[in-house]
Amino acid sequence: MVKTKIAVMVSGGGTNLQALLDAQSSGILTTGEIVLVISSNAKAYAITRAEKAGVPAVVCSRKELGNQAAFEKAISLVLAEYGVELIVLAGFMSILSESFTKQWPRRILNVHPSLIPSFCGQGFYGLKVHEAALAYGVKVTGATVHFVNEIPDGGEILLQRAVEIQPGDTPEVLQRRVMEQAEWKILPQAAQMISEEIGKGK
Ligand code: GAR
Repeated sequence: MVKTKIAVMVSGGGTNLQALLDAQSSGILTTGEIVLVISSNAKAYAITRAEKAGVPAVVCSRKELGNQAAFEKAISLVLAEYGVELIVLAGFMSILSESFTKQWPRRILNVHPSLIPSFCGQGFYGLKVHEAALAYGVKVTGATVHFVNEIPDGGEILLQRAVEIQPGDTPEVLQRRVMEQAEWKILPQAAQMISEEIGKGK
């Protein structure tokens, strides 16, 4: 079967991108192939990870492009250039508008570091999510992979995995545990699942 062409969109460290690249080399991700990385930030370490893996990385910065429409046009052009069929948001910290997401129904995945519908939506990203979970005092958190639509963190849920909070956790310690035990596992699994589904529909 021809592999589904995946673009991974990033903004920072790119550990989830690394999990996807590793899943590809270890045979966990076989139905899709990462053909492109798009970063919203020219300084993201994720770009180095892409280069090390021999995957082309392109920077599309909303700030530099001036406005949301120009930003999304640049992204759309590069996605078309590489024939991308599935987009994976892996720590991508820019919002995509409805006019963009509606062009990719059930074709954009996102990983969020909590059990949606807790600690999600506008303002909940990165460490802030774990700070909020600790401040609330929940005993279990986790990660969610979902389809992306016009509602922030509001698309259909594909996979979730729970992670226990330990006494004395800091946001940083908890973030790392959620990544190791949940995000880096369920994101490649979901990419495999949806790539296969797209492949079957071709
Ligand atoms: C991850 O924890 C990811 O779930 C989160 O940012 C981190 C990025 O890390 N994403 C969000 O909060 C999106 N709302 P990474 O760059 O090392 O993959």
